[in-house]
Amino acid sequence: MKILAIETSADETGVAIIDASHSTTKFHFDVLGSAVQSQIDMHREYGGIFPTVAKREHARNLVPLLTKALEDAQMYNQVATSLSPETRESVAAIFERNEELGQNFISFIESIDVGAISVDAIAITHGPGLPPALWIGVMFANALSRVLDVPLIPVNHMEGHIYIGLASPSDDKTFEIDRNVFPLLSLLISGGHTELVLSREPLQYEKLGQTLDDAVGEAFDKTARMLGLPYPGGPEISKLAEEVRNGTIIAEPVALPRPMMHDNTCNFSFSGIKTAVMYALKKIPEITDDTRRAFAYEFETAVAEVLYKKTAKALEESNPRAFVIGGGVAANTHIRRVFAEDLQSEFPDVALYLPEKALTGDNALMIAFAAYARTVHSPNPYSTSVTANGNLSIAS
Ligand code: KG4
Ligand code: ZN
Repeated sequence: MKILAIETSADETGVAIIDASHSTTKFHFDVLGSAVQSQIDMHREYGGIFPTVAKREHARNLVPLLTKALEDAQMYNQVATSLSPETRESVAAIFERNEELGQNFISFIESIDVGAISVDAIAITHGPGLPPALWIGVMFANALSRVLDVPLIPVNHMEGHIYIGLASPSDDKTFEIDRNVFPLLSLLISGGHTELVLSREPLQYEKLGQTLDDAVGEAFDKTARMLGLPYPGGPEISKLAEEVRNGTIIAEPVALPRPMMHDNTCNFSFSGIKTAVMYALKKIPEITDDTRRAFAYEFETAVAEVLYKKTAKALEESNPRAFVIGGGVAANTHIRRVFAEDLQSEFPDVALYLPEKALTGDNALMIAFAAYARTVHSPNPYSTSVTANGNLSIAS
C-alpha cells in the first residue's frame, strides 16, 4: 500500500511517500520519497516558534516539498492539465480560509499529471500542535485527497513519534517495525509534551503520567534562553554539557533540584528546575562560558535523572514487553545514554527502542508509518475530510 504523508504541526514542514506491507510479525516500509524543511532559522530571532511565521512558511514549503517527494518517487510528470469545474470549486471551498494557498495548489495540480501519482491514501497530522500550522497541512491534504480521489488517514503527531521510534532502518530507504512489542510503554518528550503512555495493544493509549507544568523541551529552551543561548535550546545545552562530560573542568559547579523525583506518581514537573536556574543566575554578576557549561551540565543531568526515575516507576507498575522514547528531546545524547545503560541493567527483559537521531525531529515519515499501522489495526482508519485539533490527546 502506498501512502503520501504530510506533517505541519510545528516548525518543520514534511512530505513523505512510502510503500508499506506487513507480515504477522513485522511492518515493512520502503521510502519512495521524503522531504523535510526546517524553519528554525526563521524562528530563531523570536526565541521560539512564532505561529504566523510557521503558517506562512508551511504554505510556502508544501508545493516544493511535495514536488521533491514526487520526483524521488518517480511520480512527477510535468504536463499542462485542467481541473473540472466541480473539482476546482470543491478545492476552492477547502481553501476558503487561505485563498492564496488555494491558488498555488491549483496551479501546481494543473501543471502535473495527477494520474502519475499512484498512492492509496493521504496521511495527515491533525493534532496536537499549533492550530494555524496544522490547518495549512490539513487543507492541503483535504485538497489532495479530493483531486487524487483517495481517502485521508488522520494521524496523531505523538503516535508518529512512537512509530518512528520503533522503526529500525536497514538503510535510509527501508525500515522495519517489530509488531511484537505490546504491552508497550512510551516516553514522549518534545517541545510541547512530556508523558508516559502505556499501550496494552496497538493504537490503545493510557496515560500513566505527564508534566504538570512545562514540557521537557520547553524547559531546555527556556533555560538556554536565560543562559543567552539561541533557540532551540536543547541542542545548545546538550553540546555544552557534553563538553563537561568529556572532561572540560567547570570552575564553579551548581546544584539544581530534581522536582517530584521521589513522589508517588509518574508525573513530572520541570518549571521548578527552570525557576531555580533563574534565581541562581541572579546571584551571578556575569554569565561566562564557564557559567553556561556549569548550568547546562547540571540542568541536563537533573532532567535525565527525573525522566529515568519516573520511567523506572512506570516500568515497575506496568511490566511491559518493550519501551520506546519519542519526540525531539529523544535526540539528546545524555538522555539516550542514561536510558541505554541504566534501563538495560535494571530492566534487562524490557526491549529498548530509540529513534534514529536524524528522525527524532518532526518529519512526515513518522506520520506515514503510524498511518499504515492504523490501516492494519483500526476498523475505520479513513476519513473523507479532516479538521485540525491543536489539543488532540493520544489517550482517550
Ligand atoms: O518533537 P519536536 O521536534 O517538536 C515538537 O513536537 O515539539 O521537539 C522539539 C524540542 C525542542 O524543545 C528542542 O529544544 C528539543 O526538542 N531538542 C532537544 C535536543 N534536540 C531537540 N532537547 C534536548 N537535547 C537535544 N539534543
Ligand atoms: Zn514532535
